[in-house]
Amino acid sequence: MNQEKTQKPEILLTGATGFIGKRLLYRLDEKGYRVRCLVRSSERFSLPVPLNNEPEIVRGDLMEPESLKNAMEGISTAYYLVHSMGGKSPGRHLEFEERDRRAAQNFVTCADNAGLRRMIYLGGLGDTSDHLSHHLASRQEVGRILSSGSCETTSLRAAVIIGAGGAGFEIIRYLVERLPVMLCPRWVYTMSQPIAVENVLDYLAGCLGHPETAGRTFDIGGPEILGYADLMRIYAKTRGLNRTIVGVPFASTTLSAYWVDLITPVPAGIVFALAEGLKNQAICRENRIRKIIPIELTPMDQAICNALAEETSGPGAISRQACFLPDTGKKS
Ligand SMILES: NC(=O)c1ccc[n+]([C@@H]2O[C@H](COP(=O)([O-])OP(=O)(O)OC[C@H]3O[C@@H](n4cnc5c(N)ncnc54)[C@H](OP(=O)(O)O)[C@@H]3O)[C@@H](O)[C@H]2O)c1
Repeated sequence: MNQEKTQKPEILLTGATGFIGKRLLYRLDEKGYRVRCLVRSSERFSLPVPLNNEPEIVRGDLMEPESLKNAMEGISTAYYLVHSMGGKSPGRHLEFEERDRRAAQNFVTCADNAGLRRMIYLGGLGDTSDHLSHHLASRQEVGRILSSGSCETTSLRAAVIIGAGGAGFEIIRYLVERLPVMLCPRWVYTMSQPIAVENVLDYLAGCLGHPETAGRTFDIGGPEILGYADLMRIYAKTRGLNRTIVGVPFASTTLSAYWVDLITPVPAGIVFALAEGLKNQAICRENRIRKIIPIELTPMDQAICNALAEETSGPGAISRQACFLPDTGKKS
């Protein structure tokens, strides 16, 4: 095979500066894939540890179709790991829906023009019959738009992902670290199936080696189905903190979004969008992916330890050897 040809990237990674994207870049590199990263700003792209193969960086914004023209040249598979939630103003938190719709449409048009063969998308888990929040409905709409093009799209659907820097995990971390007593709305009892970030990477990267995942949607989840209160208690126990968490009927989700916004550094635009979705159960309806990509699922106390050990700053950051797993009495 022509040596020069094998050096060219075959994979396009969008969201390469994000929580999932930057980790997936390392995982793909470990597996020997050559990657082209689409970034809005190269200043926001950094590699804390060098890769085996330097990725190719192209500047592009999904809101500007012209900027995407060259991004897919020679690419067979693209990862779509982008969302538009954010901003400091809670009042504008619904504007992401239109932006995410346009971004996905622009990407599909570009993929069709370039003759892309596969797309792999990570979206959100939530039962469609369950009056979905704007955020979860938008994630599902993006999945439908990405599947409407000519290439085969794999959609993975996840609930909150446990890893350092993930918005959902950071909210939990700051709340439990800073508040000894929490009076929460009923959402603390909503059931969800969180998943460790390393397992999400196992599935995202695993899809490449399993062509039978092409053109299909899969739910992905961790080994435990839990209420958010349980997850916060596991966090507290893992850190050896004494915490009281009580669900009360009078506290509304919007009210709690305001105090979550006060307590945590996560941008208001994300806090308000995620808070609305806390009423929706996020549990896998099927587990077909587990037969296709059989992996060992990380328990939540271990996933929390891993996240805290990775984090070097902020409340609860711990050294890699110092994580206490209460159920086993072992250090991580
Ligand atoms: N985090 C979780 O717990 C979780 C749970 C379930 C599903 N997911 C899904 O996982 C995917 C990735 O989420 P994440 O947590 O990694 O998000 P994230 O850390 O906020 O990263 C979002 C990425 O999207 C990029 N982006 C936003 N708008 C863009 C645009 N117009 N053009 C190009 N790039 C753009 C951002 O680039 P900039 O650096 O330029 O802003 C950033 O790299 C999303 O589809 C999300 O729904 C996440």
